[in-house]
Amino acid sequence: MGFLTSTEIMAHCSGGWLLSLLILLLGLSVQTSQSRITIENGVKSSVFLSPKFVMEPGSVVNKYYHDIDFPRGHIAIKSFNAEVVDEAGNPIPLHETYLHHWVVMGYHQRKSVEIPKYNDSLGFKSFNQSDIILVKNTGVCDQGLGQYFGLGSETRRTDTHVPDPYGIEAGNPAEIPDGYEEKWLMNVHAIDTRGVEDRLGCTECRCDLYNVTEDENGRPLKPGYIGGLRCCYDQTQCRVREGFESPKRGLYMRYTVKWVDWNNFIVPVKIYIFDVTEIWKKLDDGVIIHQCQVEYEVDACTATDEANDGCIDTKRVSLSMPTGGNVIYSVAHQHTGGIGSTLYGEDGRVICHSIPTYGEGKEAGNEAGYIVGMSTCYPQPGSVKISDGETLVLESNYSSAKRHTGVMGLFYILVADTVPQPKSFLPAPVEEHEKMTLPRSVWGIAFFGMAIAVAAVVAFRRKSEREEGYQSI
Ligand SMILES: *[C@@H]1O[C@H](CO)[C@@H](O)[C@H](O)[C@H]1NC(C)=O
Ligand SMILES: *[C@@H]1O[C@H](CO)[C@@H](O)[C@H](O)[C@H]1NC(C)=O
Ligand SMILES: *[C@@H]1O[C@H](CO)[C@@H](O)[C@H](O)[C@H]1NC(C)=O
Repeated sequence: MGFLTSTEIMAHCSGGWLLSLLILLLGLSVQTSQSRITIENGVKSSVFLSPKFVMEPGSVVNKYYHDIDFPRGHIAIKSFNAEVVDEAGNPIPLHETYLHHWVVMGYHQRKSVEIPKYNDSLGFKSFNQSDIILVKNTGVCDQGLGQYFGLGSETRRTDTHVPDPYGIEAGNPAEIPDGYEEKWLMNVHAIDTRGVEDRLGCTECRCDLYNVTEDENGRPLKPGYIGGLRCCYDQTQCRVREGFESPKRGLYMRYTVKWVDWNNFIVPVKIYIFDVTEIWKKLDDGVIIHQCQVEYEVDACTATDEANDGCIDTKRVSLSMPTGGNVIYSVAHQHTGGIGSTLYGEDGRVICHSIPTYGEGKEAGNEAGYIVGMSTCYPQPGSVKISDGETLVLESNYSSAKRHTGVMGLFYILVADTVPQPKSFLPAPVEEHEKMTLPRSVWGIAFFGMAIAVAAVVAFRRKSEREEGYQSI
């Protein structure tokens, strides 16, 4: 870079001023405006912003924002997507701000208790337990992983939609205790890796890079704990290259929720999250406890491993599914190094195989070396069932060409008790059903000419007919 002349500096500055003003105005309008609701095929959609969090090179935020903006009333959630954006609304790539995870869950708060909106004191630890009741998913971990939604770097390219006639129920007045109201919490964990010495090390929360020897609560780390969430808590700092400077900046989670108002034709799904690190035990009284460790470590392979299996670390666990049902959707969550995960039934059948997509470029959504998406499973409802008390096997594979710390092997599944019987006796192929429920296909029609439009209309009619038995939502 050469030296700037004074005119160039002037031009630069005034441009900068204008830009800042614009950003300020935009920022203000985005922050203060109530999110607009758009409706497409009866599905409502809103885009919201989290509170602003400020990051600088090497910094970490791990915030728990109470009472985030969220659709109100008795609803069925159809999808939830989120990404990190700056104050001008530009998507931020993972090599600048690594999104370790975001997590969203509901809670019931006593109406008489005042908690400022967006209060971000550590989770709910500081509140009277009887004032805040978390609304956890159906299972199975006893501690943690109670969320409804949660993704990480893969958030931009992972499908989360719940196909018709299913939905994730929220805001059911019958389930909100008297004197309480339903609210939503968002936990955001992000790591700014601009100018850091070791990008992968910072995103894998290696304790030496954070110069951390005690956890967030001041307890010394267990011997042998070399990386993971205990070393990259809120306000820790990953090591930055000497002399590197880059400005602080304000960022947001921008999240899009799609939903429909509740009606009796919607079939509710339950959310289960399985963890490959789970340790489960049957107590004497028959009660099963599930201790989920959430994270684990992958050791680098040796030369012998390399010759034998090509350096793959396979972690497997048997899990018990208390109550079964029909699998509607599933997806795995892995970190960098992950090469796929499978959930098997007791008889060895594959319930879902989910593999990561790695980016290949620089732009947001395609960052080279990062997991930018996970493949999902949408079985034809009724075709993949889990029985009550069935023992499942979860398998998570990582490349062990390098050591990895703080990796995860989670599996989300959505399960419905019943599969509605369409009136028609001719089941349509599942792919068509999926395509037609994606609004994207509606746009596709505009671009691909009349022939396809006609075909799509026919397909849509067939779908509507099929859905009459349980009403399209
Ligand atoms: C928590 O709230 C309950 C019910 O209002 C009250 O009886 C109890 O004393 C409170 N506990 C604390 C520690 O404030
Ligand atoms: C690491 O932490 C120790 C103890 O808190 C401190 O004395 C030391 O200066 C830190 N090192 C760096 C490089 O920040
Ligand atoms: C994991 O790796 C093992 C060993 O290579 C392989 O047999 C298995 O199919 C893999 N599983 C997944 C889920 O990719």
